[in-house]
Amino acid sequence: MNKVGIHRLAFYTSHYYLDLAILANARGIEVNKFYIGLGQSKMAVPAPDEDIVTLAANAAKRALNDINVNEIDTILFATESGIDQSKAAGVYVKSLLGLPNRVRVIELKQACYGATAALQFATAMVAKQPHKKILVLAADVARYGFNTGGESSQGCGAIAMLITANPSILAIEPETGLYTDDVMDFWRPNYRSEALVEGHYSTKIYLHALEQTWQHYQEESGRNFKDHDYFCYHTPVPRLVEKAHQTLLKIAGELPVESNKTHEQLKPILYYGRETGNSYSAALYISLISLLDNTAEELSHKRIGFYSYGSGCVAEFFSGVVQPEYRQVLATEFHRQHLASRQALTYQEYEAFYSYQLPTNGGECFTPKHETGDFRLAGIKEHKRIYKLVNQPEILSKETKAAISKALSPGKLILSGEHAVNFGKPVLAMAIDRYAQTTIASHDPEQVTFNLLDFNYKNSFTINTLRALKRRVKEKYKEFLAGKVGIREVLQQPFELTQYAVVNWLDHMNTKFNRGLDIHTTSSIPVGCGMGSSAASVLSVLKAITRFHDMSWDREQYYTIAKEIEQLQHGKSSGIDVYISLHGGCVYFKEGQAEPRPLPTVPLFLVNTGTPAATTGESVSHVLEHFGQDSIWQTFETVTNIMDKALQANDLPEVQSAIRDNHRLLTKIEVVPAKVQRFITEIEAQGAAAKISGAGAVTGDQAGALLVVTEQVEPIKQLCHQYGYDLLEVKAVERGLHAL
Ligand code: CAA
Repeated sequence: MNKVGIHRLAFYTSHYYLDLAILANARGIEVNKFYIGLGQSKMAVPAPDEDIVTLAANAAKRALNDINVNEIDTILFATESGIDQSKAAGVYVKSLLGLPNRVRVIELKQACYGATAALQFATAMVAKQPHKKILVLAADVARYGFNTGGESSQGCGAIAMLITANPSILAIEPETGLYTDDVMDFWRPNYRSEALVEGHYSTKIYLHALEQTWQHYQEESGRNFKDHDYFCYHTPVPRLVEKAHQTLLKIAGELPVESNKTHEQLKPILYYGRETGNSYSAALYISLISLLDNTAEELSHKRIGFYSYGSGCVAEFFSGVVQPEYRQVLATEFHRQHLASRQALTYQEYEAFYSYQLPTNGGECFTPKHETGDFRLAGIKEHKRIYKLVNQPEILSKETKAAISKALSPGKLILSGEHAVNFGKPVLAMAIDRYAQTTIASHDPEQVTFNLLDFNYKNSFTINTLRALKRRVKEKYKEFLAGKVGIREVLQQPFELTQYAVVNWLDHMNTKFNRGLDIHTTSSIPVGCGMGSSAASVLSVLKAITRFHDMSWDREQYYTIAKEIEQLQHGKSSGIDVYISLHGGCVYFKEGQAEPRPLPTVPLFLVNTGTPAATTGESVSHVLEHFGQDSIWQTFETVTNIMDKALQANDLPEVQSAIRDNHRLLTKIEVVPAKVQRFITEIEAQGAAAKISGAGAVTGDQAGALLVVTEQVEPIKQLCHQYGYDLLEVKAVERGLHAL
């Protein structure tokens, strides 16, 4: 009989991940519990416009890149993150990949075991008709919920494997060991988007089922432990795989083996899993890909034992033999590049991604656009998921084209001169490559719907409700100007700024409200950290709504209205945030005059030390009260001018020296918290320079954004790690507010 097995194999995971050190920090857990105790370093987090279909389509596109897809007879899609109770997710994949209609598509479910069932069915089908090719897909998003025991073992990923006769990668052997038992260790009722799990019980069952399937497999195959060269295991967390391997060693009488040795042996198998987290049905096959991609030793003719486990529970032990030409068809470079190019999320970004919910009540939405490979979930319309090819001209109807408007506005960093600007001294600031984005589409003609991703907020209003909000906010702002209330009492929630901007625009333009608005906002600018997130958000909303109504404003109009609105958040605005976000580039301001400067080319980094406990207004008042008459402001001006010249000359040592002087002055005016001072002292000891960028804080430990100038990134990264901060490279950008 012909050999049957895996002919092509690829995996795909999200472009975004959370380092578990950040999760540990947020949850007050010792990071080594995750790094060592679970053996997990990162978990992949899907973007709001990514799901099992887009993940699987991306994996399949790579797996099939040299295959004649007309030869594919069947698509078997295994998942426990189903998106529809009726339609198989594989049908969408078929359509996205442009596969022929002469194909059979079906979805399979049994927790993490589904892909193994699909593989076994596929091999049986090919054994019966050896000219057929079967595409097996497995994709899952592992979700347990915030602050739950399972949170650290989440993740996502997809695999695609093409099953054929005479395969190039792995021939599957016919003998298998099976085990099924009706247990409740992990399950997800239809009404929940997160799984329920009895964590420790599930690991016990996982290991018990391993013993049972191994015993059955041995009876069926007559093979012993030593007949296998490698073992791959379903990987909920890498540490459990080490325990599983120890279990097999024990049964085989191979113990004692030092646990360090097991750790080393399993390294190549677990390499990708440590990076992606659990991907349920795809996890076992990601461990196979990891082994094949990351083992220098020639694996041809080596036998691999596979343990597949799906809670609930069904488990299977089987084996396969690596084929001589396997290296020629692996997607190793694709996998490595895909993982290396991923983007780390901050804790806030993780929360925002995780909390994003598609409407569950029949509502419609357009998802915010993120990096999702070649495919994305664009939204839901008339209860139907809309998938799109990325980077391909969208074929939109005339009506839809007119009904979607998008705008982006950048955040800013102050390079020098914060606080001094309030004493008539110069300030240097630049727009950076972090953006607030607004998308507006048509919706229910009666309503304005806000889907504010970063605030995890979604709600719909009539225009009259929004007008009542505007009246209330205006009234409070008057009270603030009269000194009766603090600025924090003007907006009850930060997202009211966006709502105010929308209703203010409609009233200002005297527009007839008859189309309805569906407004999505998202931002990569940290909030409340002196990086101009409010100004950028307001501007992006104003631009998107102006375009949506086929109108145009000049820059002066944007500046005046956005500054007026931004004041509701900050009290009194210098207008710098709005100016920079609107115009982009790098600017030297003095006494209301803006002089453009070339974009800085020295290596700039940003450290977010967290939202300051004091508002900008409070820090500014403190400085006015205690240092109003001080001669220090002249020194600030001198330092800003030195920095200005050094940046233009691209003179790194002189820029760093001006930053250090700047930091000393800011410390003198008491806006640099003690913890941040300690951090900057350590940064300086590494030969780098840093200063707060923005108002800083007169109370608490956090100072918002820090600007770091260094050519040596690694030591600073390690320092940030110790302090629980994130280090981000930032680039100045020439372009300000613009439509997409
Ligand atoms: N430094 C080093 N190690 C530390 C540590 C530290 N500071 N703190 C704790 N540890 C160690 C512990 O000693 C423990 O080690 P052992 O396993 O060797 O005893 C390990 O870290 C884990 O600690 P806990 O048992 O306290 O961890 P936990 O209560 O968070 O539970 C878990 C871990 C059960 C895997 C949990 O993350 C969970 O419920 N995950 C979801 C369910 C799951 O993945 N189950 C696996 C089997 S079910 C399955 O396979 C199907 C599927 O995919 C879901």
